[in-house]
Amino acid sequence: MVRGPGEVAVHLRVNGESRTTNLEPRVSLLDALRDRLDLTGTKKGCNQGACGACTVWVDGRRVLACLTLAITCESREVTTIEGLSDGDALHPMQQAFLDCDAFQCGYCTPGQIMSAVALLAERHAGDDTEIREWMSGNLCRCAAYPHIRTAIRRVRDGSGGDAAR
Ligand code: FES
Ligand code: FES
Repeated sequence: MVRGPGEVAVHLRVNGESRTTNLEPRVSLLDALRDRLDLTGTKKGCNQGACGACTVWVDGRRVLACLTLAITCESREVTTIEGLSDGDALHPMQQAFLDCDAFQCGYCTPGQIMSAVALLAERHAGDDTEIREWMSGNLCRCAAYPHIRTAIRRVRDGSGGDAAR
């Protein structure tokens, strides 16, 4: 079935809620989240798949929202940084980023956290080399990388992790 090129209704499940929005099929998931659904926690950096600032999960897997068409997420489960906390209780990774001073300007942070949580679920956080490799799609212009790795180790180990390195 061909849909478009005018606006069509797209149904998503976002952070556990059903959301319907009308948009042209060319609209990215990133723009749909930020501009249509007012979920501005997900950041637009490069808008071309190079920085990872827009990382969200679709059906539990991390994707770059700027390279994903919203219409392809019809009826799928989208999770953004707003969906990580439990009410006022931060997700352990959010708390670890705060505790470990893992951000400076904070612009890359939502994407870093979405990747970091997925990284642990993917079991790709065995050591720092592996963490570095599997977080390499998330760039940080402030170069907070050592502290980001400390935060990830802290959650992985359920402890304070080691000193930043
Ligand atoms: S905004 Fe999507 S990768 Fe940079
Ligand atoms: S904290 Fe500034 S870009 Fe990462």
